[in-house]
Amino acid sequence: MWQKYVCATKIEDALQTLKEYGENARVVAGGTDLVLEIENGVRKNIHALVDVTRVSGLDQIDLDENQVIHLGPMVTHNHCVSSKLLREHALPLVLATWEVGSPQIRNRGTIAGNLATASPANDTITPLMALGAKVTLKSLLGERVVPLEEFYLGVRKTVMRPDEMIVDISFPALKRDRQRGNFIKLALRRAQAISLLNVAVVLTMDGDLVQEAAITLGAVAPTIIHASEAEAFLAGKPLNPENINTAAELAMAAAKPISDVRSSAAYRKTMTKVITRRALQATVDGTAGIALPERPVLLWGRGEHHGNLSQTSVLDQTTAIDTVINGKAYQFESGQNKTLLRLLREDAGLIGTKEGCAEGECGACTVFLDGIAVMSCMVPAPRAHGAKIETVEGLSLDGNLHPVQQAFVEANAVQCGYCTPGFIMSATKLLEERPTPSQEEIKQAITGNLCRCTGYYTIVTAIETAAQKIGE
Ligand SMILES: Cc1cc2nc3c(=O)[nH]c(=O)nc-3n(C[C@H](O)[C@H](O)[C@H](O)COP(=O)(O)OP(=O)(O)OC[C@H]3O[C@@H](n4cnc5c(N)ncnc54)[C@H](O)[C@@H]3O)c2cc1C
Ligand code: FES
Ligand code: FES
Repeated sequence: MWQKYVCATKIEDALQTLKEYGENARVVAGGTDLVLEIENGVRKNIHALVDVTRVSGLDQIDLDENQVIHLGPMVTHNHCVSSKLLREHALPLVLATWEVGSPQIRNRGTIAGNLATASPANDTITPLMALGAKVTLKSLLGERVVPLEEFYLGVRKTVMRPDEMIVDISFPALKRDRQRGNFIKLALRRAQAISLLNVAVVLTMDGDLVQEAAITLGAVAPTIIHASEAEAFLAGKPLNPENINTAAELAMAAAKPISDVRSSAAYRKTMTKVITRRALQATVDGTAGIALPERPVLLWGRGEHHGNLSQTSVLDQTTAIDTVINGKAYQFESGQNKTLLRLLREDAGLIGTKEGCAEGECGACTVFLDGIAVMSCMVPAPRAHGAKIETVEGLSLDGNLHPVQQAFVEANAVQCGYCTPGFIMSATKLLEERPTPSQEEIKQAITGNLCRCTGYYTIVTAIETAAQKIGE
């Protein structure tokens, strides 16, 4: 694990640590990739983690006077999902972010982290490349702007130097009168699933003719690629079924996938054609993004975010973590180089929060960090410093069960009970966010929570009952 944890409140402090530690330091944003990489030994010799989640203003999504959209490095998937500006001017990106993991993962995972991890299956690279995005890399020596096409060197390899961090992601806003876009992901499940492949398209139209086409493919090569021949073929042509089919065949020819546990190379290749055709056809039909909910579930509750730090704090193995859990102040003298889940269970003795997978997959470890639902197994423990955390133990009021807890008891929504705290936390956040959720919204809220025994019908019923009780 790590030896030093820098909770930066200024970019300069973060850059200084990166310079000091070089290869032995990493920026940590949501931690949803990095914590796993460190725990699995993929990233070794990380002496310092530089947490940039407390630098204020980094989570902004802006449109500048040149109609260029800027995403700060702390913009999360859920920020994108809930952004009106992006829905109107960057639909492919919103569709990709809506497909990432689960609400708890989307609450912590950032676009910058997704780009920097550089997995060819990461979902936001494909739409951002189709949108013509660039990243701004900053170090103490200055800044440079790199188009995404030049950012990647291979699987999990980028041109970013150890002393640099991404400080901006920018791309031209789509012009709604003549530009259309789409993104489709093919995976083995509807949630919590890595792309078998994904396709993004951005078309600039001149009347009925395609003036310019960008077609990008994910998970079919060591990096995200343009289907260049398909793009060139469509230029100057109408989007009729014949041309769409030829473009899809050219996209398939560009794909050079591998076989792995999820899919054979042959299936990926064939489906590249199918998904490209569907993506193009939907832009013609005007059905791109039709399945995107009007008001997606975020698990932000009432949106009361807190947890700012007044100044950069450097925590080593002997510096205490000062935090507030369920309204009570705690000081932890040890536990700095573990996850928040382990800190809660081992050091705070709050064992209601469960470890199911320790990989962000099951939701048994769901807690509220600074007001929003997160997977605590993916959060470094020192992130708790100066933060407010709520666990399932904090839900009951004056010795009475919380209405959601009571409803789980009454609906027999519990069998072994291992998953129950996580479900209750997600459901509680949902009901804070929208007191009268539809069944579809309840299902969205628990996509990150797995139950291996009770089954989901009683759980959904319990959440519906709790909503009625709270509303009475
Ligand atoms: C259960 C689960 C499901 C997932 N599902 C999906 C999915 O469906 N689709 C998908 O694409 N991904 C998925 N992911 C992967 C992950 O959630 C995303 O890639 C996420 O966007 C990573 O962002 P982060 O902020 O958590 O990155 P972190 O883990 O904090 O960092 C990841 C890497 O980026 C670097 N980094 C972060 N920010 C910066 C910066 N500003 N400058 C320079 N380097 C930086 C870090 O040093 C690290 O190397 C999933 C992960 C889990 C655990
Ligand atoms: S998601 Fe954290 S333990 Fe499974
Ligand atoms: S009740 Fe046993 S895992 Fe859900």
